[in-house]
Formats: sequence, structure tokens, C-alpha cells
Amino acid sequence: MWLCFVYLLDAEHTGGAMQSISKIDEQLRMTANAMVSHDKGLLAMDESVATCNKRLAKQGIPQTVETRRRWRELMVTTPSLQESISAVILFDETIRQQTTDGKPFAQFLTDAGIIPGIKVDTGATEMARHPGEKITEGLDGLRLRLAEYAGMGARFAKWRAVISIGNGIPSHGCIEANASALARYAALCQETGVVPVVEPEIIMDGEHSMQQCFDVSEKVLRTVFKELYHQRVMLEGMILKTNMVLPGLSCPKQESTDDVADATVQCMLRAVPAALPGIAFLSGGQSSEQASARLNAINIRYKSHTPWALSFSFARAIQQPAMGIWNGREENVAAAQKALQHRAKCNLLARRGL
Ligand code: G3H
Repeated sequence: MWLCFVYLLDAEHTGGAMQSISKIDEQLRMTANAMVSHDKGLLAMDESVATCNKRLAKQGIPQTVETRRRWRELMVTTPSLQESISAVILFDETIRQQTTDGKPFAQFLTDAGIIPGIKVDTGATEMARHPGEKITEGLDGLRLRLAEYAGMGARFAKWRAVISIGNGIPSHGCIEANASALARYAALCQETGVVPVVEPEIIMDGEHSMQQCFDVSEKVLRTVFKELYHQRVMLEGMILKTNMVLPGLSCPKQESTDDVADATVQCMLRAVPAALPGIAFLSGGQSSEQASARLNAINIRYKSHTPWALSFSFARAIQQPAMGIWNGREENVAAAQKALQHRAKCNLLARRGL
């Protein structure tokens, strides 16, 4: 009798656990799908304090907590942003900030129908015994940080690994270490019900050819998906954020927009499993127009032929024109918001492939 009771208790316990796990999975799938649906994409405004300051300094804008808050407020409160943007990536400083009216940014976005998310890696540092290569840190304490961010309204997270192409790099060790960290981060996110945006970025700087970028991108993506499998990450409940396949910025041969579109999609088809709901490309230093034109070509040529949505998660390619117009002045806010809205809309249209 006692044994039977224990068995029932255990069955109930297991059943409950299974039920709650599948509820989380369902939530992950729904969020991931919502992030790439209706031809919308992501606005990345998750620059670290140092990177945001660098961009403000370039425009001659003072670099203070308050100017960063005002810049982020300008973006978050852009009228009709939700017509083109499904989700916004925030930074630790920003998710703790509020609009001038006192509404936390994450709440403001949620009320506007935009999904708030958060960058959770703590940055890329020099990798030991791997000159010229970087490893992204941030796994320590991540489970607790994710729970805190989820409590603040974040429904997805982002982790960026950076891979450079150069003489003898990337090394196997660098690719493996970064892929492993991405997969461990992604599993922790899914445990918390937070959709992981898994971002391996091949850096554009360098003289490498588009073919080299293709080969490295394929290798990195294959390694990342192998690690995600080992860490039991549910592909239906995550988004891949990655680079388009491009020639290095200093490469003398710069392929056409259509060639970039072909190479990018061919590479993704080889390395990205069909179960994934979407791929969101980063802009990586392309001009705003170039990033939209290439996304447009990708969708014109492949939109209905790939298993996943071909979307965007741009920071610079959406923000840059607006920051130039704003220039730190209150009287320029409306014009800057118009420019931001315009870039967001261009990328919505690029997703439609018109
Ligand atoms: O992690 C990188 C950013 O979220 C995307 O930035 O579009 O300027 O490359 P980007």
C-alpha cells in the first residue's frame, strides 16, 4: 500500500513536471514565432555602456547615464514602431530605466505590443593562448540573472559570440569554446522560459573573400548546432542571429547584392536545421541601405523556399541615421524618430521582398 502511494505520488510529480516543461516549451515556441512573424524584425538597442558612449561621442553628444536614457527613450517611444518591429533587445542598464513619465522601458514596449528582450552575455574578451581571438563571457550566475530579467518582463535573451577571419584564424578551439558557451546559455534561457537568440557573428573587418566568409560561417554554424543538440536546446523555441555571408570590408572584390543573397542562403541551407522558426541577420557594419538591400534580395529570391523566416535584428543599420539627426537635442526628437521609423519600415518591406 505504502509503495503504491509512493508510486502514485511519484507519477503525479512526474506528470506535473512533464506538464510544466511542455507548457514552457509551448511558451518558447509561441514567443519565438511571434518574434519573426508578420514580416517584422528586431531592433537591437543593447549596446554596452562603452559601445553606446562610443557612438554618442562620434556625434559629439555627451556620454552620461541620462543621455543614454534619453537616446533609448527616443527609440522605445517612436510612434508606430510596432508596425515594423516585433521585439527590442535591451541592455542591463536600459531594462532598469524608465521613460520620462516613469514607465519602465520593458513595460512601455509590452504595452505597445513589442516583445522586450535582454542581452545577457558580459562581453567578449581575449581568449587565452589564442592571439587575435575572443571568447564571450557571462555564464557565471546566469541562471539567477535570467530569472531577474524575466521578472522585469524580458521574454527573450541574446548572447553574441564574435569570430574573426585572419591569418590562421578562426581556430578550432575558438569556435568550439564559443559554440559551447552559446549552447549552455541557450539551455539556461529555455529552462527559464526565455527564448534564446543565439548569435555567432563572423566579423566583417578584414581582407577575406566572400568564399572564406562562407566557409567559416558554415563551420561555425555547424558547430553551434552540434553543441545546441548536445545541450538539448529546443530549436523550435530559439532564434538564430547571424551575419550575412559577405566579403571582408577591405577585400578588393565586393560581390553584387544578388551574389551576397545567394551565398548567404546557400550557407544557411547547409548548416541551419529546418526546425528553427527564423534567422535574424545582424547588420555588422553595413550601411543602413546596404543591409536593407541585401535583406530584400535574400527575400525576393528565397522567401517562400526556405524552412525559416529570413528576418533582421539590426542595431547600427536602424539606429545610425536617427542618432545623427537627434544630436542630443530635444527639438530633434520627432525628426529622429521619423528616421528610425523609416529604417524600420524599409526592413519590413525588405522582409516582404518587394
Ligand atoms: O550583436 C550585435 C547587435 O545586436 C547587432 O548590431 O546590427 O550593428 O551589427 P549591428
